Amino acid sequence: MTQKDPAEPTGAQHYTEAARCSLKARAEALRRVRRLRFDTIAVHGLYTVDEALDHNHGAIMEPTLFSSAQAYRDSAEMELALGYKIPTWCYTRIHNPTLGFLEDKLSLLETYGSDIEAGCCVYSSGMAAIGNTVDALMALPGSQPPNFVSSCQLYGGTYQLFDARLKRERGMDVRMVVDSNKIDEWRRNIDKSTRFLYGEMPSNPGLAFFDVAAVAALAHEHGIPFVIDATIASPALLRPMLYGADVVIHSATKVMSCSGFGMAGAVIARMPILSNTPNDELKADFALYLKRYPQREQGGCLHPFQASMTIADLRTLRARVDEWSQTAMTVARFLEKHPAVLAVNYLGLESYPLHELAKKYLWLVDAGHDERYGRPVNRYTHMMSFRVKGGPEATRRAFDRLQLIWRATDLGRVKTVATIPAISTHLLQGEEARKKADVPADLIRLSVGAEHPDDIIGDLDQALGAAK
Ligand SMILES: Cc1ncc(COP(=O)(O)O)c(C=O)c1O
Repeated sequence: MTQKDPAEPTGAQHYTEAARCSLKARAEALRRVRRLRFDTIAVHGLYTVDEALDHNHGAIMEPTLFSSAQAYRDSAEMELALGYKIPTWCYTRIHNPTLGFLEDKLSLLETYGSDIEAGCCVYSSGMAAIGNTVDALMALPGSQPPNFVSSCQLYGGTYQLFDARLKRERGMDVRMVVDSNKIDEWRRNIDKSTRFLYGEMPSNPGLAFFDVAAVAALAHEHGIPFVIDATIASPALLRPMLYGADVVIHSATKVMSCSGFGMAGAVIARMPILSNTPNDELKADFALYLKRYPQREQGGCLHPFQASMTIADLRTLRARVDEWSQTAMTVARFLEKHPAVLAVNYLGLESYPLHELAKKYLWLVDAGHDERYGRPVNRYTHMMSFRVKGGPEATRRAFDRLQLIWRATDLGRVKTVATIPAISTHLLQGEEARKKADVPADLIRLSVGAEHPDDIIGDLDQALGAAK
């Protein structure tokens, strides 16, 4: 038996000292990794060779830790851990090391190209991420009931959450902006009890696009955060925090987990955020606050296996987004000229009214450091929508004739997928809300995947032949 060194710290002191060392090592790793390029961070995240050799049997891939709980050496360590005095993961509903690898990677990618400090909390789905964010920011009512202001062009599930669940069922004051490019419309809806502004950009399926910097500045004028769902663009094309956004939400189910094998959501938040809630912990590190309290008590945690699948798909994010966006551009140009097509909404088309604004914001990350380009390059995402001549019936006929393209309420997939939002994702919100959000019944949403553009075009061409 080795003799214990009397100078060695014991009990709580020992664990506090060990935590200090591990936090120092983490901060150093973070500094090193932040100097790397986007692709390198997407491949490695913060999972370093040291981390693998010291703690993970040398596994070169981030290990998937299935254990539901973490064991502690003694009561002193347990008390410090459960009181959040030392880094710990405790229990998978609260945290888990595999989720940590994903969270580090996402916060690094989302702040890439800046020195912004951000935290991340992953969830079991994009909707869980949105629901928990809204819930936390609307908690602790002040003297007046709180409200929030959102653009109305939203994914159907988000619209239903805001309108049906929060507004109509719970009486929450949810204020919708119809034209998110009219900054005065946002401004008119804000008052002293407004907790945050919320937008989705580009929106699904309407491809709404607004001036992120202007909306973020407006939020900050009022001392409140700007929350944005940037799922469709992904950090490979748009990192809204670089333009002032405070909280970025992703349905990581989509292009981040392109294989289509699961669900995931993420909240990435600037540290600190502006907020008029009296909660200092929430303001200092919103993502950590979500993880430690609401997620711990309300659930909605991501499964470690799913986290590993998302970690794996993320490694190729930039290349995929680049290639799929180029294919989408080719497909959009084809549709634009097709005699059976009434209109095409694609941010990359010069004819699209929001093209110039999109051009200002959507840049392929690191194109200037890529030998193929060597200069900044715009890319406009994998998603478009188009209207078929002849109304809803002709639209259904074309849709029903698709042979290669999948009819499904999905997007961001390696496979090209189409849906008619008015009869699927946006069915429940009703005619009037669809009108406001610009989701007509003859609209087909198309999410372009990795197939050869000739084959996607071939399938659309034969299907549109049936529309007449
Ligand atoms: C833009 C956007 N945000 C959020 C969601 C919800 O994400 P999830 O399906 O992962 O819950 C979706 C789903 O389609 C979406 O398109």
